[in-house]
Amino acid sequence: MKAIVCENIDQLRLVETAEPTLAEGEAIIRIRRIGICGTDMHAYKGNQPFFTYPRVLGHELAAVVEAVGDNHLSLRPGDQVTVIPYMHCGECIACRHGKTNCCTDMKVLGVHIDGGMRELISVPVTHLIRTDGLTLDQTAVLEPLSIGAHAVRRSELRAGETALVIGAGPIGLGVMAFAKHKGANVIAMDINDERLAFCRDWAKVDHTVNALEQAKEKIAELTGGEFPTVVYDATGNARSMMNAFELVGHGGRLVYVGLVKADLSFNDPEFHKREMTLMGSRNATMEDFEGVIEAVRSGSIDVDSFITHRAPFGEMIGRFEEWLKPESKVIKAIVDL
Ligand SMILES: NC(=O)c1ccc[n+]([C@@H]2O[C@H](COP(=O)([O-])OP(=O)(O)OC[C@H]3O[C@@H](n4cnc5c(N)ncnc54)[C@H](O)[C@@H]3O)[C@@H](O)[C@H]2O)c1
Ligand SMILES: [Zn+2]
Ligand SMILES: [Zn+2]
Repeated sequence: MKAIVCENIDQLRLVETAEPTLAEGEAIIRIRRIGICGTDMHAYKGNQPFFTYPRVLGHELAAVVEAVGDNHLSLRPGDQVTVIPYMHCGECIACRHGKTNCCTDMKVLGVHIDGGMRELISVPVTHLIRTDGLTLDQTAVLEPLSIGAHAVRRSELRAGETALVIGAGPIGLGVMAFAKHKGANVIAMDINDERLAFCRDWAKVDHTVNALEQAKEKIAELTGGEFPTVVYDATGNARSMMNAFELVGHGGRLVYVGLVKADLSFNDPEFHKREMTLMGSRNATMEDFEGVIEAVRSGSIDVDSFITHRAPFGEMIGRFEEWLKPESKVIKAIVDL
């Protein structure tokens, strides 16, 4: 079977490899769609910390079951599935408390262990979810959307609250879509006006603010001087993450969905006078995936226009460099098999 291996920085190669064999508790699935995300791009460009090569990338997967033994989901060959790519240990303090998304020994498919850029892969049945009634494209974007859905669930966002989402990449867009789905009043902020237009068209946000144009004053104006009760930062930009403290309303919460390999600092009076809650949000759980599947099934998330670029498996390597360029305006690129 064919696989695409990231052999080193800037080196993707289509290779012939052995097919997986069926192991106890696992299913062999045939990959049909692979979503490409920032993680894959960073791995390819060598700016993904702790990344080791060679690695088969790909963690946003839509697949069809090829072979499986008796299993608790009654999965059979031919069933359409997605994979929860976060392999957790099941025993650590986080796993014991149901927070498998932040396992102390997390191994993410396509990051720490080989992922799904190949025709067949064997994965634990416990990490499969059936996606009957969804298209393959819809199935492939469940993972990135679940990241946003998790951040929204974690913040306990309620209908009628005002939420500010900073950063309008695929992750921030997912946060916006689920914040709207919850009935919040959503303000999107970015430095890129085209992405802000996408927030209005796709996520149906209520307001957009350019972060470079008197943003604090505009957010004050939009909230009657009170500021949002929840601020999500999905930029991956340290300065934005630190500045976000002063955009949170008193009694509110700040959720870091985006991450940065740096130390962050904040002014304690800004934090304390608000009695602010600061949260990290990492990955997603089965519950988040199930919520996203329901939302997609109900038609409230437009997956077709979220996918902006696509290529067949055999042509992906040639298109990868182009997808990295900001001018290509990629939101989500999908590979078809
Ligand atoms: N929580 C998780 O488990 C998880 C999972 C995947 C990705 N991430 C992280 O989420 C972040 C976003 O990922 P993405 O794929 O959407 O990235 P992206 O680069 O496509 O999007 C980031 C957006 O932030 C905007 N931005 C940058 N600096 C800004 C600033 N100062 N003010 C306002 N906007 C600014 C950019 O214009 C861009 O539109 C990254 O840090 C990524 O590592 C987190
Ligand atoms: Zn991803
Ligand atoms: Zn664990």
